[in-house]
Amino acid sequence: MSHATPHYASFRSIGAYVPEKVLTNADLEKMVDTSDEWIVKRTGIKERHIAADDEATSDMGAKAGQTAIERAGLNAEDIDLVLCATVTPDYFNMPSTACIVSDKLGIKNVQAFDISAACSGFVYALSVAKAFIESGMKRNVLVVGAEKFSSIVDYTDRTTCILFGDGAGAAVISATENKDEAFVDIHASADGSYADFLVTPAPGSVNPVSQKVIDEGLQYVQMKGNETFKLAVKTLTKDVKEILEKNNISAETIPHFVPHQANYRIIKAVGDALKMREDQVVLTVHKYGNTSAASIPMAINDIWESGRLRQGDMMLLDTFGGGLTWASALLPFAGKSL
Ligand code: UT7
Repeated sequence: MSHATPHYASFRSIGAYVPEKVLTNADLEKMVDTSDEWIVKRTGIKERHIAADDEATSDMGAKAGQTAIERAGLNAEDIDLVLCATVTPDYFNMPSTACIVSDKLGIKNVQAFDISAACSGFVYALSVAKAFIESGMKRNVLVVGAEKFSSIVDYTDRTTCILFGDGAGAAVISATENKDEAFVDIHASADGSYADFLVTPAPGSVNPVSQKVIDEGLQYVQMKGNETFKLAVKTLTKDVKEILEKNNISAETIPHFVPHQANYRIIKAVGDALKMREDQVVLTVHKYGNTSAASIPMAINDIWESGRLRQGDMMLLDTFGGGLTWASALLPFAGKSL
């Protein structure tokens, strides 16, 4: 009986795209009853980027994906699976945004589909890429996290409109025989009993588009902010501690803790619970706000482009979002340093 060489999944490259237009707290002060002081104190956000009217989620995802493929030293023909994590797809029913991203990148005749796990989408997608590669079914997976969150935000609702931004990030996950490059572990979980904490009530089979939907603004994101906040801190702290313990890795040895960028206070609380030093914690929430599934890959791209993320560096990812969903991952960066 022959034994095939085992395939491990490795994180080969990162890319991102940030739309040009900036929406500052001062701009929001003119739109709703809020203040720069409140937003900075409660969230850490100073500004966020907003896609152009004619810029779709797939446009941003394709740009991030192109960069990631180039930085992996690959071509479109090398990619054999495209995953797009998003809750603001180009079209809510079909086709999937992953199909459109593939077409824009010239990736032909390969499996492509979307992952719907809100802010946890990118880490969920990494777990899918890992499984496809470890099973030997695929060799080079393009994982995109892209959101035009501004398309589902009600800019008269001060409790949500200050939080979210648009953007995209992407990574190439490739097969390797080298165990040192391999993903260490991913935990991903969900609890649908909290579905009403973060929800866009329409359009969908519960509320198909109707005049009532429009009149009541059911197409916009609704969030139980404070309840979500408390559960996020509790769940993330427990989850991140568990993944470290399970793999016998101590928090102080992780050079890059890359949390989902929803709120500086959540990041700080989890970082403090792990006794993380400031230099370990990656922060982009002040300049991008919460970009949902794009948040973690955009943050990884930031540290790569600033030269902080080096080949072989261990990353600890953690995220929490609508569903509710949450996930954490331990993996080395296996791409080239800048
Ligand atoms: O990414 C997916 C996961 N999402 C999250 O993790 C988000 C989690 N939640 C949060 O980040 C925070 O809950 C928020 C930033 C959304 C809100 O902060 P909070 O400390 O939980 O505030 P709160 O909702 O308890 O509201 C406190 C007060 C309220 O006024 P009263 O009732 O005390 O008079 C709000 O009406 O702040 C008021 N408020 C605002 N004031 C000025 C809410 N939004 C605003 C605003 N500007 N934009």
